Amino acid sequence: MESGNPSKRPREEEEPEETAEEATQAAAPYQPPNDGKYDIIYADPAWDYSGRQMHLETTVTSTALHHYQTIPLQTLKTLDVPSISAKDCLLFMWTSSPHLEQAIELMKAWQFEYKTIAFVWDKVRTNPGYYTMSQCEICLVGKRKGGSIPKPRGARNARQFLSEMRTEHSAKPNEVRHRIELMFPLQRKIELFARTPTPNWSIWGNEVVNSIDIPWKT
Ligand SMILES: C[S@@+](CC[C@H](N)C(=O)[O-])C[C@H]1O[C@@H](n2cnc3c(N)ncnc32)[C@H](O)[C@@H]1O
Repeated sequence: MESGNPSKRPREEEEPEETAEEATQAAAPYQPPNDGKYDIIYADPAWDYSGRQMHLETTVTSTALHHYQTIPLQTLKTLDVPSISAKDCLLFMWTSSPHLEQAIELMKAWQFEYKTIAFVWDKVRTNPGYYTMSQCEICLVGKRKGGSIPKPRGARNARQFLSEMRTEHSAKPNEVRHRIELMFPLQRKIELFARTPTPNWSIWGNEVVNSIDIPWKT
């Protein structure tokens, strides 16, 4: 039986007191950078499937269009991402396997050079495919043309692979954002086509309150 006398119980670790700076940071809403430029851009574009199903499920509700508005590649290219990119900037971009070519084309249009596959997400469950059963999505990384990898760098041992059961349509695992934060803790970050806010990140998309405006070039 637990002792009723608090002085007899083992002492719990005392919480360290919050510093004034930490308290201010916790209270202040996140401010986008003054110059509107970001070092890390994390994007999950609303790829257009031209009305086709993403995989061969029998229900028509599996198409992206049933969940959100999609954007043709030519239109995506006109989003003025270069105007929000710092000189040294990385673009992390999700793509489905059938959109790989389009994703690299889009990176080029946004003035980034494709570098490698940063993350491979094993969604644990399979979907039927035309060739093999589809199970993974990939997140590419590109570097701003003429720029370098943003410095200072954080963790250099982030894993490429993660295995996490998929949840609602198109939702990507938070773990990927977390790994990017570990890799680039001090950099200014924005998520494009976001559906939820993340502390200390700017966000932009038609389902969230945008941190900044990004023009579409005509
Ligand atoms: C693939 S989903 C993003 C999913 C998100 N990464 C997540 O983990 O939940 C694409 C998002 O882009 C949004 N979108 C579609 N058309 C848009 C537009 N013209 N401008 C901004 N966002 C748009 C969609 O509504 C959807 O929220």
